Amino acid sequence: MRAAPAPRRAVLRAAAPEGLWEERVQRSAHPIAYPALRSARHRPAVRVPRVGVVVSDAALARDVLLDLDHFSKVGPGAPSDLWTPVLGPSVLLNMEGPEHAALRRALGPLFSPRAVRELVAAGHGRAGVLPELTRRLGAGETVDLAAVVTAQAGAVICTMVGLPPTDDAVRSAMVAAQTVTGMVRLHRHGLTRSQTVRARSVLERLTAPARAAYRAGDPATVPGRMRELGLSEREAMGAVGAFVLTGTETIQSFVPRLVAIAHDTGWTRRLLADDAGLRRRAVEEGLRVTVPTPAMLRSVRADTSVGGVPVHAGDRVVIATVNCCRAPGGFDPARPVDPAVRHLWFGAGPHFCLGMPLALAQVDGVLDALAAGAADGRLPVVGRRRAARGVLVPAYRSLELSLSVAEQDADRWAVAGAGCSRTAEEAA
Ligand code: HEM
Repeated sequence: MRAAPAPRRAVLRAAAPEGLWEERVQRSAHPIAYPALRSARHRPAVRVPRVGVVVSDAALARDVLLDLDHFSKVGPGAPSDLWTPVLGPSVLLNMEGPEHAALRRALGPLFSPRAVRELVAAGHGRAGVLPELTRRLGAGETVDLAAVVTAQAGAVICTMVGLPPTDDAVRSAMVAAQTVTGMVRLHRHGLTRSQTVRARSVLERLTAPARAAYRAGDPATVPGRMRELGLSEREAMGAVGAFVLTGTETIQSFVPRLVAIAHDTGWTRRLLADDAGLRRRAVEEGLRVTVPTPAMLRSVRADTSVGGVPVHAGDRVVIATVNCCRAPGGFDPARPVDPAVRHLWFGAGPHFCLGMPLALAQVDGVLDALAAGAADGRLPVVGRRRAARGVLVPAYRSLELSLSVAEQDADRWAVAGAGCSRTAEEAA
């Protein structure tokens, strides 16, 4: 394991314009864990009582994620502690080795560009969520982007579990996913017994249609397709559970935060412009500063050290992805990305996010709908917003958007920066 990189010095930076709201979103979700994690950010690795060894350096984080001899997602303090009692032992997030690789290979075709396009189209096409967003904005209405993205993510999940995405089905799918993920706390290694029972029953209800679709074997449904791809019923149901847990709140969190950041930094016009390269840079930079999955957990398999901190079998390592990714500074799509940081927001190594193509397709779907709604020199501008409380993935509870005559991007930088009352410490 590599030696400890030099500790980062606390640099006094100007507050990033997006920082005020981003900070509020993070603290509303995790009033205790977030400041605790951030307080570790100036040390590449540090042992925090009751939490584990916290890693805040991107290169060191990659070393841990790629070192399969010493670190695992199975074992004390790892995701297996959280999810095996709820979902069973074979749901990707709690697997390692050849079985894990084989299941990923089998699931791969579900995330091909074509499969993802069809999934997103089926999700929002039938429910009409995104065309409705374009229409309402164009008609001069104020829309709540957080609600729209929740409906879109819920519709995609319904499609995955084989449910028609009616309003009711979408609502219950999202509530179910949030009920389960909302039980997770960084300082607790697993769920309590009663939480486990509740999580199981919520997920069983949600995935019942998936089981029926698998048994019917209709390849037009995702579970039917899994059967066609050779997955056993147990593997297919585990994968559906994993998709529900990993693929809903991340999207619900990211898209409104990206649009809010673009607004706060004067990037809305460029984000929605007909320039795929510029949009990709802005989306990647949005992912870097929001880090929808703020931490990754690993259990130590064999004694070693992490950045000079000795660790022993059974210890927990918490990769503070939020610290690793945000170290280079605030949102700036023009800044070259450090290769150690690039895509770390989607993980690294054998557990790298399987759903990345679906995530990016969903983001594109919303941005296309916003771009189609914007016309006559008008752009979506953010009105009132509220951060969500008690959620696992930091998010806006509501984010109002309406079209307005575009402000000058340069002016917005100045205005947003001036309104930012945080300390430089919070901004760094
Ligand atoms: C912006 C959105 C998303 C972000 C930032 C994100 C981030 C991540 C990260 C960091 C990991 C690795 C965790 C680790 O190594 O401990 C991961 C794994 C995973 N993600 Fe995503 N994710 C997103 C969206 C999605 C979506 C839409 C799906 C689709 C269903 C999905 C499915 C998965 C699955 C199945 C895994 C587990 C892979 C494995 O263990 O082999 N993710 N994600």
